[in-house]
Amino acid sequence: ELGKNNLLAGKRILVSAGGTQEAIDPIRYIANRSSGKMGHAIALKAAQAGAKVFLVSGPVNLPVPFGVGQFPVKTAVEMKEVIDDFYESVDAVIMSAAVADYGVAEVADQKIKKQTSMTLELVKNPDILAGLGERKTHQKLIGFAAETQDVIAYGKEKVRKKNLDMLVANDVSKENAGFDVSTNEVTFIYPDDRVVHLSNMSKLDVAEHIIQALAEL
Ligand code: CTP
Repeated sequence: ELGKNNLLAGKRILVSAGGTQEAIDPIRYIANRSSGKMGHAIALKAAQAGAKVFLVSGPVNLPVPFGVGQFPVKTAVEMKEVIDDFYESVDAVIMSAAVADYGVAEVADQKIKKQTSMTLELVKNPDILAGLGERKTHQKLIGFAAETQDVIAYGKEKVRKKNLDMLVANDVSKENAGFDVSTNEVTFIYPDDRVVHLSNMSKLDVAEHIIQALAEL
């Protein structure tokens, strides 16, 4: 069948996708522009490569690839709980989710009524990927980074800080790359500072390159 191979046969791969949604009250939330397309493409390609795939996604409007188990979450804290539960049993984690850096300090039980002005207190969310990097034993870890400048320099720093095996960095200021489009232009950055730039291509093709790179790792 088209696209099928055995690059990840028998492996268990966890993929995170989409953006997290941080509740303010029962009606409102803070979100970001992530569509989940990149993560869903990776889940599909990993499944086609013979892996057992667990897809942890924030609220997304995308079909779940055939044969992939989806675990829907909303907040960063929920995403962390699900991923931490899987971590010991998987061979790799590909963290393409756009995890909110902050959550709301006190989520209101009731709808917040209009006021002339209001202040919302935010608290830093846990860094899921950095936590995985600290506790890494046998797993391969692939992180993502969305930057608007100095992509390579920031990327190399992120690889070290989060103890990654590979970083997929993209310059979201470029046209046809990053959030909510079907194409992407990424650079793979490795712990030995090796850098591999890919041209602009469909997210499905980017996903295939990521699976190839993971198989090599
Ligand atoms: N990530 C995570 N938990 C967070 C934030 C990010 O697991 N709370 C993961 C993302 O899924 C992604 C990578 O870490 O794989 C992105 O790294 P991050 O340092 O958050 O990138 P930026 O937000 O771009 O960093 P900075 O704010 O320093 O530019």
